[in-house]
Amino acid sequence: MRQKNELPAAGTSSPKYSGESPRREGKSRIITVTSGKGGVGKTNLSVNMALAFARIGKKVVVMDADLGLANVNVMLNMIPKYNLYHVIKKQKTIREIMVETEYGISIVAGASGFSQIANMNDEERRNFINEFDTLSSADIIIIDTSAGVSSNVLDFIAAADDAVILTTPEPTAITDAYGIIKIIATEYENLNMGLKLVVNKAKSAADGKKVADRMTSIAGQFLNLKVDYLGFIYEDQSVSQAVLRQKPFMVTDPKCKASICVQHIVERMERNKTREKEKGGFGVLLSRFFGGNSK
Ligand SMILES: Nc1ncnc2c1ncn2[C@@H]1O[C@H](COP(=O)(O)OP(=O)(O)OP(=O)(O)O)[C@@H](O)[C@H]1O
Ligand SMILES: [Mg+2]
Repeated sequence: MRQKNELPAAGTSSPKYSGESPRREGKSRIITVTSGKGGVGKTNLSVNMALAFARIGKKVVVMDADLGLANVNVMLNMIPKYNLYHVIKKQKTIREIMVETEYGISIVAGASGFSQIANMNDEERRNFINEFDTLSSADIIIIDTSAGVSSNVLDFIAAADDAVILTTPEPTAITDAYGIIKIIATEYENLNMGLKLVVNKAKSAADGKKVADRMTSIAGQFLNLKVDYLGFIYEDQSVSQAVLRQKPFMVTDPKCKASICVQHIVERMERNKTREKEKGGFGVLLSRFFGGNSK
C-alpha cells in the first residue's frame, strides 16, 4: 500500500523527479474531477464549475487530463493549434499552449489520441514537468480526468486538494463510483484529501441525496472513509442543448436548474475550503504522476 504523498521508491520507476523545481509555489487549489463510469458529466462539471469560480473572481485553469480523448476544447468549440502533445514533444511551452477562452477561464488542451504518455522518455517527462509548474499561478486548477482507475488518474486524485467523484443515480454509475472510492481507500493510507461526491443527472434533490446517503454510508461503514456530499445537478435539457452548441450551460442558460446547482456546489466548495496545503500543490502532483508508482 502506498502512503499518501509517498514518493516512489528508488528503482521503481524512471525518471526520478526530485520535486525540486525552483518555480513551485503550490498555491493553486487542485480540484480533480473523476468518475468510475464514463459519460456521467465530468467535462461539463469541470468547465461549468470553472466558470462559476471565475465569476467569484478566481483565476481558473481547466486542464484536460483525459489523455486519450480530449474534449474540454470540443465543449468550448475551440480548436487550439497546440496541446499537451506539443509540450511533451518539446515543441511548445505550456504558456504557448494555454489558451484563454472568451469565458474568463483558461484551458490546457489535452493530447487527443495520444495515450502513450507513460512511454515518454526521461527528457520528455522532465521537460513536461518543468513546463507544468507554470500553472501554479492559477488560483484553481480543475483537472478533468478520464473515467476509471488507471494509475495516472489515481495519482491526479491523490494529489488533489479536492477529489470530486461524480456519479449519476444509475446503478452502474454508482457501483463504479464506489469502485473508484474503494481503490483510493485501499491504495492510500491516511487519506486526508477532501473526497467529495456530486450526483449528476438527478431528478430531484431527494434523488441526489438518496444516492449520496447510500454512497457515504457504505464508504464510512466498509472503508472507514469520509466522503462529503457536495450536492447534485438536475438532469436538465439545457445541458445537452449547450453541449450541442459547444458552449457551457452556465453561459447559454445561467438560470437553468443545472447552472444553479453548479453555483451551489462551488459556493459549498468555497465554504469548505478547509484543507491545508500540506502536500505542496501541483509540484507534488507532478512528481507523483511522473515519478511513477507501484501499480
Ligand atoms: N445534468 C445533465 N443533464 C442532462 N444531460 C447531461 C447532464 N450532464 C451531462 N449530460 C449529458 O451527458 C453527456 C456526457 O457529458 P460529459 O461529456 O460531460 O461526460 P464525461 O463524464 O466527461 O464523459 P467522458 O467519460 O466520455 O469524458 C453530455 O453530452 C450531456 O448531453
Ligand atoms: Mg469528459
